[in-house]
Parts: sequence; C-alpha cells; structure tokens
Amino acid sequence: MGADMTVRVLWNDEFSVGHITLDHQHQQLLRQCNALADCIESTSPGADSRFHEILYELAVYARTHFETEEELLAGHGYEGLEAQRQEHFEYRRTVMKIICLAAVGEFHKIELQSFLACWWRDHILESDMAYREFLLGSARDERSFAIRSRGENA
Ligand SMILES: [Fe+2]
Repeated sequence: MGADMTVRVLWNDEFSVGHITLDHQHQQLLRQCNALADCIESTSPGADSRFHEILYELAVYARTHFETEEELLAGHGYEGLEAQRQEHFEYRRTVMKIICLAAVGEFHKIELQSFLACWWRDHILESDMAYREFLLGSARDERSFAIRSRGENA
C-alpha cells in the first residue's frame, strides 16, 4: 500500500442511504476515521493513546453497525444480503489481521488510517448505496399499507 497521507472523509447528503439510523451510524464511523487522522497529526502527548482508544471504539462500533445493517436488510428480505455479510466478514478479518500485526510491531498508523477511511467511504458509497432504493421503496410500501389499513378501518 504505502500510503503516506491521512484521509478525511466528510459526510454529505450524497452519503445518505435513505435510513436515519444507518446514516447516523455511517456519520459516526466517518467521524472516528477522521479523529484517527487528527491523532496522527497531533503533537500533544496524549495523542498516541487516544489513537488506540479510537481504534478500539471504531472496531466495536463497526460491529454494532454491521449487526444493525444485516438485521434491517434481513427483515426487509433484501436479496443482496449475502454479499453484504461477506463484505462485513472480510472487513473484520482484515482489521483483525492489522491488529495482530500491530501486536508484533508492524504497524503503520497512516497506512491504517487511510485504509479505514477509504474502506468506509467505499462501503457507504458503493455497497450500501446499492440498497438505498430498496429501503426507500420498502418505506413507501409500509406507508401506503398503513394508509390503506387506516382507510379500511374507517
Ligand atoms: Fe453500512
């Protein structure tokens, strides 16, 4: 890889997957990636331990996010679910590998930070954008069903 620059990804409307909880989670994940970049560039004495703290928080939060996403997509019968699951699995495996390398000292902070920021950017803009229309369509169906049901009860 050999990345020599940190990568910051700023959330904007084009990152919206059409679901408020998932959007919030994606925002938080990108914030954490950006905070890692801040730690790398900071000269303050606590920056290194803060970097490791955020790295851990990101790992935990990623797990929460994957679970929310998989549950939601499964609940709506999304046909691309298996591909999503596979991608989430690959991510966890890669991050585990990095953590193992870090334990034996083979650890490049900038490379790791840019990998994570780019991974999450691509996850949102490519993999997750694929279910945007699907989720918006389901929400529309649910609303029209609710309206129809209310009409029947009236
Ligand atoms: Fe996602």
